[in-house]
Amino acid sequence: MFSYQGKNVVVVGGTSGINLGIAKRFSQAGANVAVASRSEDKVNAAVAELRLANSNGNHFGVCFDVRDLDALKQGFLTIKNTFAYIDVLVSGAAGNFPSSAENLSENGFKSVMDIDLLGSFQVLKQAYPLINARGGAIIQISAPQAYVPMPMQVHVCAAKAGVDMLTKTLAIEWGRKGIRINSIVPGPIAGTEGFDRLAPSAELQARVAKSVPLRRNGDCDDIANAALFLASDMASYITGTVLPVDGGWSLGGAGAAMAEIGQLATQRKS
Ligand code: COA
Ligand code: NAP
Repeated sequence: MFSYQGKNVVVVGGTSGINLGIAKRFSQAGANVAVASRSEDKVNAAVAELRLANSNGNHFGVCFDVRDLDALKQGFLTIKNTFAYIDVLVSGAAGNFPSSAENLSENGFKSVMDIDLLGSFQVLKQAYPLINARGGAIIQISAPQAYVPMPMQVHVCAAKAGVDMLTKTLAIEWGRKGIRINSIVPGPIAGTEGFDRLAPSAELQARVAKSVPLRRNGDCDDIANAALFLASDMASYITGTVLPVDGGWSLGGAGAAMAEIGQLATQRKS
């Protein structure tokens, strides 16, 4: 439906789950796609999948931890040397685990803040000169925790709320440069690490599905469709938005479902 023929797309955290799904769809739409994450094995496997999706694209991977500024700078130098400029950046690296605030160490809180929030800022800063070259679109991958308080998720709630404020603030600062930036808020997405960690059984995932107004958990294509739209000219007047792609989950069901599931997870551990 959308053509990204010859466009340069970078997906940070693009080696598994939702973000890999996005990377593959951009590749299928004709883009050259670079993916980045910590694990060299995951990076290599993801690049192989991208080449299968579109053998004509110039696909490659870089390894870095978004918390390591030197490695990040090196990674973006590689991206600059290959692409020269970026048309679309997807920033989606994140970490999550369920923990009550009582049991969460300061370092556990800091780890998620460092990956999700400071890491996103560092990624955006490194990508900025390459997007500023010609203008482009940035998509941040947020979460319902950004605006739905959830027990066992204080670290993620704090971090993703910050991610969405990066989106809104930079939409103002960078709009005049021809750079649009929006957040996508995935709902519960089946078959992903993030959902498996929060609802670690088929029974719990089915329970979540019942709390979604559209009565199903999402899939990676649901999120990729939104990403291809938001990065396209069809969305050329959209910036600074936070778009839930969640079957209506964050309208009410998300908070109640995760409160119940969080308690069950606690009971099962003890
Ligand atoms: N419950 C409570 N605390 C936890 C935890 C859990 N399940 N998992 C990790 N922590 C704490 C650790 O105990 C540590 O704190 P401490 O030093 O006070 O003991 C801190 O978090 C950092 O853990 P560490 O394993 O050293 O972090 P890391 O940098 O290697 O990994 C994580 C980061 C913890 C976020 C890891 O889960 C990760 O890499 N996640 C990426 C994949 C993912 O989360 N996908 C879903 C995306 S939504
Ligand atoms: P995932 O498969 O674990 O994807 C996380 C990606 O980020 C991986 O490529 C991972 O690769 C990379 N990554 C993690 N920590 C990193 C770090 N410190 N530096 C660089 N890369 C790092 O998880 P997912 O469930 O698909 O989640 C993807 C995104 O969607 C996240 O932003 C998440 O918050 C959001 N989200 C997910 C859901 C859901 O239902 N799954 C719902 C709402 C929001 P490496 O391990 O190789 O680093």
